[in-house]
Amino acid sequence: MKRILVTGGAGYIGSHTCVELMNAGHEVFIYDNFSNSSPIAIERVEKITGKAIRFIQGDILDQYLLENTIKASNCDTVIHFAGLKSVGESVKQPINYYENNVVGTLTLLKAMTNCNINKLVFSSSATVYGNPKFLPLTEDHPLSATNPYGNSKLIIEDILRDIHISSPDWSITILRYFNPVGAHSSGLIGEDPRGIPNNLMPYVAQVAIGRLAELTVFGNDYDTADGTGVRDYIHVSDLAKGHLKAIEQIGMPQCSEINLGTGVGYSVIDVINAFKRASNRDIPFRFAERRNGDIATCFADPKLAKEILGWEAELGIKEMCNDHWAWQHKNPEGYGVV
Ligand code: NAD
Ligand code: WQD
Repeated sequence: MKRILVTGGAGYIGSHTCVELMNAGHEVFIYDNFSNSSPIAIERVEKITGKAIRFIQGDILDQYLLENTIKASNCDTVIHFAGLKSVGESVKQPINYYENNVVGTLTLLKAMTNCNINKLVFSSSATVYGNPKFLPLTEDHPLSATNPYGNSKLIIEDILRDIHISSPDWSITILRYFNPVGAHSSGLIGEDPRGIPNNLMPYVAQVAIGRLAELTVFGNDYDTADGTGVRDYIHVSDLAKGHLKAIEQIGMPQCSEINLGTGVGYSVIDVINAFKRASNRDIPFRFAERRNGDIATCFADPKLAKEILGWEAELGIKEMCNDHWAWQHKNPEGYGVV
């Protein structure tokens, strides 16, 4: 049993990961400022697992509170989800993004150092591969960034690699997520974007439920089978189980980067059709210009995760859409209306 401090644990991926960790017998302590989440998510995790969760409302920029929380929770490991994640917003608010993501992570690392804990799992992203030079994307693909969000992840990865060089006893697992979608099979927790969603699946779900009128498909002239962008969508519960595996093997001095994806790519049209089948609703859409900064195709080589973590994704596009729809249908306003 490990005692784990989960920064950003009330968020989309964090809440699903807490379910898997708690079901496996680990103890979690959530640290979140609720800037992009709701405490209701924590109540729902308690409902799913039948266990109480300790949590504190706090900012990762607050080193004093972080250190007190690490001491009070007696944790031995940290999973660090907290941060801002919208690519478009990061272009408009670079200072906010670098401060929350980079300075926030540095503050956490200082707090961990002062409290003598050195086991960390970090949420990185396939965005660090930039525009793919080859596919599938292996962990040794060259790294680059085209926006402040992606750059913040690259800078943090570099910081973590440098820490491991200077203090080789640290155990750091950098997980690079592909496109997380779906929701817990209970329909009790899921993604609850504030305002108009930026990402495809939550947008499609809100069109299906009638909150949004139609989907805009960004580009139908890519060099893909149907001309629309192709991505490696991964069920959030599979992703959460990847964290459980990472936690179970963490401890040996190391710093590794591991893709968490399925290895399979689906186009925007594939997603629309799968979601139509899951929801039995119409999804009106129209084609528009490509979105700035988008790439044609992106999918993972997930072999290393299998080799190192003994993990591979089990759920396909059908389960992703079924579970995302169940969450949307049961919670049409997200956590806004209980
Ligand atoms: P999310 O916004 O749902 O969760 C992030 C959580 O962190 C939220 O609960 C938010 O309130 C909290 N938070 C933000 N800034 C904070 C701060 N300064 N102090 C304390 N708490 C703070 O996002 P998510 O989708 O669950 O993503 C989790 C992590 O995974 C992020 O680091 C994100 O960059 C990364 N990631 C997400 C995706 C994706 O598509 N969802 C893909 C790759 C990587
Ligand atoms: C998927 C496909 C769009 C919305 C982003 C971040 C990445 C990572 C995951 C955090 C693309 C198309 C989308 C819409 C559309 N996040 N689309 N209409 O861009 O692959 O990745 O989220 O780390 O860093 O960049 O995901 O879901 O936005 O787009 O046609 O309204 O859907 O063009 O082909 P993306 P996405």
